[in-house]
Amino acid sequence: MTQMNRQILLASRPEGAASVDNFRLVETPLAPLQEGQVRVRNHYLSLDPYMRGRMNESKSYAAPQPLGEVMIGGTVGEVVESRNPKYKAGDKVVAMFGWQEFGTSDGSGMQLVDTTHVPLSAYLGPVGMPGVTAWYGLNRIIAPKAGETVVVSAASGAVGSVVGQLARRAGCRAVGIAGGADKCRYVVETLGFDACVDYKAGNLYQDLKAATPDGVDGYFENVGGEVLDATLARMNAFGRIALCGMIAGYDGNPQPLKYPGLLLTQRLLVQGFIVSEHMDVWPQALKELGALVAQKQLAYRETVAEGLGNAPSAFLGMLKGQNFGKQLVKLV
Ligand SMILES: NC(=O)c1ccc[n+]([C@@H]2O[C@H](COP(=O)([O-])OP(=O)(O)OC[C@H]3O[C@@H](n4cnc5c(N)ncnc54)[C@H](OP(=O)(O)O)[C@@H]3O)[C@@H](O)[C@H]2O)c1
Repeated sequence: MTQMNRQILLASRPEGAASVDNFRLVETPLAPLQEGQVRVRNHYLSLDPYMRGRMNESKSYAAPQPLGEVMIGGTVGEVVESRNPKYKAGDKVVAMFGWQEFGTSDGSGMQLVDTTHVPLSAYLGPVGMPGVTAWYGLNRIIAPKAGETVVVSAASGAVGSVVGQLARRAGCRAVGIAGGADKCRYVVETLGFDACVDYKAGNLYQDLKAATPDGVDGYFENVGGEVLDATLARMNAFGRIALCGMIAGYDGNPQPLKYPGLLLTQRLLVQGFIVSEHMDVWPQALKELGALVAQKQLAYRETVAEGLGNAPSAFLGMLKGQNFGKQLVKLV
């Protein structure tokens, strides 16, 4: 009997906020493997904010996701069949197979991973793209010095949680900004940040001022909007801002900067970056992050949706902050 592959396609482009109607679940037969090919059963699918940008028609730093094709995305899984000498059944791999249950490859675009000390799903989180993003923005842009104050927004999330823990390890005061008391408690008590400000509590600037008595030297920006406005107003002269993401504006809701003059008066360095353009740092970053996770010196949390069919709603929930830690979809 022919084995079927369930896939989620981008069915239409959002007008304003994205909805589940923009996606379509299909079943397609898996073609027999050709010589040189590998088949992978995906165990986890990564849901990431950048996917929202790809759903739009307009070109950003990357081309749009084509309509009618499998949604782009990082995956981890297990080789179930191989006609490629480099892979054998049972190998665990990280790849970009997208929102589908099986991936087929000629072997390119896949990396073998070792799950002896690092759980498979962590290769989509702290020991994967989000972890390297945190590592790059912190080390290469903010370049923290011991004793400085580093603030990170979306602090309980996949990227933010790593940023603050690495900043603490560099001897900095790490201050998070997150949505809600539960997330803030986790950021301080489990992740070990020095403080966390709940931007939903209604007193953002004053609370941030109290949490950053010496001002802010490094800001790792994941959100934009009012969170960026408030933090800009706390920046010390010659502070560095790693502009990683502006999720508050992704879902059809752009957020203008209120006080651009502060960039000049505080002589700030603001550097946007895309982690996939810095492949040279990935081996070093992944080695360091992998060791920290294996030694349980880097904490992380996951929100796991069950089954491919729940990927669209989990994705839309993440854009609204309903995830708590790295958003995954468990497929097996
Ligand atoms: N530049 C790059 O190469 C690169 C690579 C990876 C990720 N990123 C960016 O990094 C950021 C974090 O990504 P992630 O994968 O780690 O996601 P995440 O933080 O695990 O999840 C997204 C979080 O964003 C917060 N959020 C959503 N809407 C918000 C709003 N209107 N205001 C404030 N916060 C909001 C929510 O946390 P709260 O409940 O705390 O609000 C939500 O949990 C995103 O902006 C993403 O685009 C950039």
